Amino acid sequence: MIDLVEKLYRNNTLSKEELVQLLTGMESSSRDHLIKKAHATRMHRYGDSVYMRGLIEFTSYCRRNCNYCGIRSENPRAERYRLSLEEILDCCRIGSELGFQTFVLQGGEDNYFTDERIVEILESIKEQYPECAITLSIGEKARESYQKFYDAGASRYLLRHETASRRLYEKMHPGMNLDDRIKCLQDLKKIGFQVGTGFLVGLPGQTVMDYVEDLVFLQELKPHMVGIGPFIPHQHTPMGHEQGGSLTDVVTLLAIIRLLLPDVLLPATTALGSIDPLGREKGLKAGANVVMPNLSPTKVRTKYALYDGKICTGDEAAECRVCIEDRINSAGFTVDMARGDHLDWRGLS
Ligand code: 5AD
Ligand code: FES
Repeated sequence: MIDLVEKLYRNNTLSKEELVQLLTGMESSSRDHLIKKAHATRMHRYGDSVYMRGLIEFTSYCRRNCNYCGIRSENPRAERYRLSLEEILDCCRIGSELGFQTFVLQGGEDNYFTDERIVEILESIKEQYPECAITLSIGEKARESYQKFYDAGASRYLLRHETASRRLYEKMHPGMNLDDRIKCLQDLKKIGFQVGTGFLVGLPGQTVMDYVEDLVFLQELKPHMVGIGPFIPHQHTPMGHEQGGSLTDVVTLLAIIRLLLPDVLLPATTALGSIDPLGREKGLKAGANVVMPNLSPTKVRTKYALYDGKICTGDEAAECRVCIEDRINSAGFTVDMARGDHLDWRGLS
């Protein structure tokens, strides 16, 4: 197994068969070696910097009905809210005062936010903070819409593929299909966005072969960012009584992704921090180099409940900012408040 890890470290690729072998044969000594190599690769490419993104969860309305997600349209107990333009700009102001240069606007697929409204938000943020980078994460849209967002100042887009297994994708996402999702990712890339995708780990029925599909998909798409995290049950969803994903599996997959895509921007996610008090730190030590502290107003924090037990729901932005810096430092890394573009983007704007 150590040989396969070495091969992955040297060549930044493995065949499908080798990935199966690596994942099925992983025991703790090979995992430790894998994590060391992922760390070495991250240090070589990005040093000990951890990039900070300010997350603004601006709507909890969603027209989709993902079976795992707490804000699915068929959850009548989900508390719905929308932030006004002023409230969003307020989050940016607070974030900017704390040093953030990247804002991530995330929400459910909410028809209230028409293209025009999104464009207005983007232009307003850009007017006040011309140097900042804006990331959008608002789901599947027509290519023309994505183009309008890009022209209005969004330069990055997050759209997890969730799972590259067709069987599992269809089971988890009523009325959706994987090809539409992939088409969106391709459109975003063609337009020129820095594109983030990613997947859930530990969905009921998810197998090693499914993770291999995810890894092969990432190798083909070559996204700039990859967000992965454990599935965590939400009590008011059809999957509320299922078992969640494991820390070890997420950390192992983070390390493999760092080696498959050495320059990728890889967050240690809130979900990872929610299943283990040191989850994010363990992610950072396995190759992750981004964290996304929450800038949403505290009055709405608990309402953006994708899963149960989400951390930081009671903390003000400034508290999260201090907390995360301490955690990053104690894990042996340094906070970097720069825009934190992908290496291919450095020097461009
Ligand atoms: N557990 C973990 N992650 C979840 N997401 C949605 N629901 C859950 C859950 N129950 C993730 C999805 C989505 C991202 C915003 O949150 O992967 O893309
Ligand atoms: Fe909307 Fe999951 S139900 S993102």
